[in-house]
Amino acid sequence: MTTTQRDHLIGLLLGAEEDWPTAFEALARRLGIIRTADGTSHRITTERVTIEPFNLRDKARQDLCIDRLAYWYYHPREWLKKASLMDDVYLLNSPFTFQSMEKHSAYCAMLRLGLNVPNTVLVPYKNPVDNARWAYTSAKYNQSFDLDALADEMGYPLYMKPFDGGGWRGVSRVDDREGLHTSYDESGEMLMHLQESIDYDVFARALTIGPETMVMKFRPEMPMHDRYEVSHDFLSEKAGTEAITISQTVNAFFRWEFNSCEMLVKDDIVYPIDYANACPDVAVTSLHYYFPWAMKSLLKWSAYCVATDRVAKSQVDTEPWFAVADNDDLDYAAKIVAYQRLADQHFDTERYREFCDQSLGHVDEFVYEYVTSPEFRSMLTSTIQQTYPTHEWERFEAHFGGLLGMWATDNAHLAG
Ligand SMILES: Nc1ncnc2c1ncn2[C@@H]1O[C@H](COP(=O)(O)OP(=O)(O)O)[C@@H](O)[C@H]1O
Ligand SMILES: [Mg+2]
Repeated sequence: MTTTQRDHLIGLLLGAEEDWPTAFEALARRLGIIRTADGTSHRITTERVTIEPFNLRDKARQDLCIDRLAYWYYHPREWLKKASLMDDVYLLNSPFTFQSMEKHSAYCAMLRLGLNVPNTVLVPYKNPVDNARWAYTSAKYNQSFDLDALADEMGYPLYMKPFDGGGWRGVSRVDDREGLHTSYDESGEMLMHLQESIDYDVFARALTIGPETMVMKFRPEMPMHDRYEVSHDFLSEKAGTEAITISQTVNAFFRWEFNSCEMLVKDDIVYPIDYANACPDVAVTSLHYYFPWAMKSLLKWSAYCVATDRVAKSQVDTEPWFAVADNDDLDYAAKIVAYQRLADQHFDTERYREFCDQSLGHVDEFVYEYVTSPEFRSMLTSTIQQTYPTHEWERFEAHFGGLLGMWATDNAHLAG
């Protein structure tokens, strides 16, 4: 039997981060040659993408690109589009869906699917973007409206936040009329949602990479390094399953690959509030205990995509989802089951699991070896030193060292 070897290059398009790329590169080096069921050997290498002139006819060398920059930075964004359209580069995430589908579209789509998105109203601009062409339109067609009456009808407290928000920019909690007007005045040229607030029992934040989802307990009121609490079984089985399905549904629906989903849980009802994050937080100083899981998932899913020639779907196909949504014979629980099935189909979850069993059996062991190695520790130390002032280094060494030590204890069975 002749064996073929194929090389796959994974590009990393990065902003200011050094922590997770260093970890990802270290793990990719440990992956070695992997073999697929057909006998083919695969070698995966990584490379950081640089920004330079590109001819639209240049062939991209990458098979897959993990993008953390293009949401804000336009030159590489256009390179990603070219690489996707012309060279079939697989993207985590594709700018085609992430640019066109911001928070507002995500709300609308998930409402249509019957999810419990809190009551939300889009309010016209406080200060319409200044443009002479719109003066006539606004004079003629802008309806005056009673913001107080609107808020009274929705009921305080409310959240006012940008329709395309992210990173808490422009988010405020509105407790009364005075706060309402302050927030609206401050919104200026941002377009705002007014949203019913959920007085939640627990905040669940899920990170999803391909078909891998980790639902974590989140405490937004805490400082960044303490927001994710290490807590297992903090949701009922029903809410936990639902949180996974909702996260994967959002991603499968929009063709997003690497995203976080925020859900508020009250009386066992799951309310998704924020689930369009093109560049989800994967910093080791936020994820700590969950960081090894995130890196492992990113590596496994990337390896699967390149080794099996997974074809990217960059256009949304609403039809199968809306068919479930519009089927009156299905109640909420039945729809959740049907959405999970569609998400599994989209991510080829069964085939991915087989691939993991067959070709990635050694990953757990080298992830454990890496996370407990001096190499990892030095990445952690340099991240701490870049992130915090000198007088806090010792404290954070102990804090993150302790949490990752807990991970190592809990995962000791993975050691070789
Ligand atoms: N409807 C809501 N009910 C309760 N808290 C909310 C609601 N909407 C937002 N929040 C709070 O505000 C924070 C930021 O809002 P979010 O929608 O996540 O915006 P961003 O995209 O900027 O993260 C949330 O993490 C949550 O703590
Ligand atoms: Mg958020």
